[in-house]
Amino acid sequence: MTANAAIATHSARPAIIAVDDVEANLVVLDALLADLDCEVVRATSGNDALRLILKREFALMLLDVHMPDMDGYEVAHLVRQNPATRALPILFVTATHNTEANILRGYGAGAVDFLFKPIDATILRSKVRMFLELHEGRRALENAYKDLQHMQAQLIQSAKMSSLGELVAGIAHEINNPLAFASSHLGTAQRNLAQLEPELRGVLSSSSQERWDRATNRLSEMGVGLERIRDLVLKLRTFSRLDEGDRKRVNVRECIDSVLTIFGHRLRGRIEVDVHVGEPESIDCYPALFNQALSNLLSNAIDAVPAEGRIVISAQGGEHEYVLSVTDSGDGIPEAIRARVLEPFFTTKPVGQGTGLGLSITYSIVQKHGGLLHIGDAAGGGATVAIRIPLQSTVGACP
Ligand SMILES: Nc1ncnc2c1ncn2[C@@H]1O[C@H](COP(=O)(O)OP(=O)(O)OP(=O)(O)O)[C@@H](O)[C@H]1O
Ligand SMILES: [Mg+2]
Repeated sequence: MTANAAIATHSARPAIIAVDDVEANLVVLDALLADLDCEVVRATSGNDALRLILKREFALMLLDVHMPDMDGYEVAHLVRQNPATRALPILFVTATHNTEANILRGYGAGAVDFLFKPIDATILRSKVRMFLELHEGRRALENAYKDLQHMQAQLIQSAKMSSLGELVAGIAHEINNPLAFASSHLGTAQRNLAQLEPELRGVLSSSSQERWDRATNRLSEMGVGLERIRDLVLKLRTFSRLDEGDRKRVNVRECIDSVLTIFGHRLRGRIEVDVHVGEPESIDCYPALFNQALSNLLSNAIDAVPAEGRIVISAQGGEHEYVLSVTDSGDGIPEAIRARVLEPFFTTKPVGQGTGLGLSITYSIVQKHGGLLHIGDAAGGGATVAIRIPLQSTVGACP
């Protein structure tokens, strides 16, 4: 919604505000500017003007100096005082006989230029045109800056994630080799011992037999331990998914398990996690990005739970979309910051703890999937953040 509103404002014609207590003067100004590509908004008092400039963006204020109640100097002063309107250029419209002291006073109050009555149409139009161009240039710069900031945020996060992915994949690989020979040697040792057992039965003293039994028991426990390591390695590999840059079908439960494995140390003994996965079990997505989005939501949920608490991860498909939500028992996202949490680098966490990129990147990941991100309140007061991905593409991609 915010993004659409911003686009609508940016694509609209630029507007200038003309402030004069004499309606007839405003009519003249309007007529003189009729052929310029801008909208002229009229204000008949300083108060009127101050109210209007808070409501929308203006490229320029044409401000009459002599007005009852609040004169032009005072209006200009108040415009400059408010951070929201400080950048608005002010063009004072004043009588030719004005003294130099008054003109200096105007500049002091925040004027950027003067226009003298009776107004010359050519001068007026050329000055207004110049301010419109300046405004357009500034808007283009602002957009370019926002794009740059967004790209920088994405680069930082993807570098962070890909180095994490590489690290995890590397560790998985390093564990895998010794794991393979330990498992294989264990199997050989168990088989050999099993073959020896009938020969030794009745030959061994009871204490040696006890030792034998203990040793074989320990060996099968080692087998259980190695099985767990194998499971862990598999999850680490599922998490990293560096080789899977393309859109493909993934099992959601496996994704959730792998992410939970990575976050195990931050959860253990403190946070209970409930996972509900419904139908369909598999969806069509970019696996590495999907894991990244889930990791970001889970990381926020963990940070939000103060001491002990609970996190619920739910995943389920509807008729048209797949919904994955992470709900925590923290304090929720305050209404006052909700509009800003998707901004890159917005964080309420201490320096070094949060970069403010998690949700903005999650938002772009969801957008890449053609979906939506929804931030809401959990029944118990915590936050619930859901990603909704359309299922149509699943049908198309996997007939
Ligand atoms: N589950 C949540 N509960 C409460 N506040 C949250 C939650 N998720 C996000 N927030 C708020 O939104 C802000 C932005 O979140 P985001 O994930 O973008 O950045 P971060 O967590 O601060 O840093 P990073 O994710 O880069 O480590 C957080 O600092 C926090 O204030
Ligand atoms: Mg975060």
